[in-house]
Amino acid sequence: MTKKLVIAIDGPAASGKSTLAQALADDLDYLYFDTGVLYRAVTYAALEGGVDTRDGQAVTQLAEEAVIDVEPTDGGNGTDFRVLLNGKDITGSLRTPEVDAHVSVVAAYRGVRQALNEQQRRIGMRGGVVMVGRDIGTVVLPEADLKIFLDASVEERARRRFEELRDQGSQISLEAIAESIQQRDKIDAERDIAPLKPANDSRLIESDGLDIDGVLAEAKALVAKKLQDA
Ligand code: CDP
Repeated sequence: MTKKLVIAIDGPAASGKSTLAQALADDLDYLYFDTGVLYRAVTYAALEGGVDTRDGQAVTQLAEEAVIDVEPTDGGNGTDFRVLLNGKDITGSLRTPEVDAHVSVVAAYRGVRQALNEQQRRIGMRGGVVMVGRDIGTVVLPEADLKIFLDASVEERARRRFEELRDQGSQISLEAIAESIQQRDKIDAERDIAPLKPANDSRLIESDGLDIDGVLAEAKALVAKKLQDA
């Protein structure tokens, strides 16, 4: 039987991690798990509950008490999923500019990360999973079989996110998106706990000038090599 790999994909905001991970999971018939939604769900809970995101203790308590479920909606490999917070479907509320503006502050608290790490490891250790985030290869699943760090220039990432949001009817400007992405990257990379950085044994994919098929081809070549060596 072919070995079921644990694949970690990390990288800065809007570098195309989710798109790559979904395509890869589809191709391999693996589970796709986007850990960013957990941090987004806690952020949403704070904003909705009137909790000041600068209050680390209150936000940590929220993260510890919140019941966050990520459920596949296609009954298959989980490439389409919905996120439930205490039983309520909040999938459509996780990628708003407001959540974007607060999520990196929330994700920097040690207590929040501790509360969410357990769930991520439980899912990751099953194997046959493509897990996406900032610290998957470094902290959550350091034993992952394959670690990819997906990067692209700020300009490229802002342009992609702009097109995605515009297609969803958003009016937000390219400049505002670039600003928000840079702000998040700075907080994510400079925090003390589990900062955004490539794992020592990660493989870098630079996606400027590559479309999804190009990025997927590079990733699939890395997977094929791993499966051959396994
Ligand atoms: O999709 P995008 O790259 O814009 O963001 P995301 O993956 O949904 O992550 C949102 C935020 O959650 C990041 O900016 C981080 O602050 C935080 N995060 C994290 O700290 N660790 C993870 N493993 C995943 C996300």
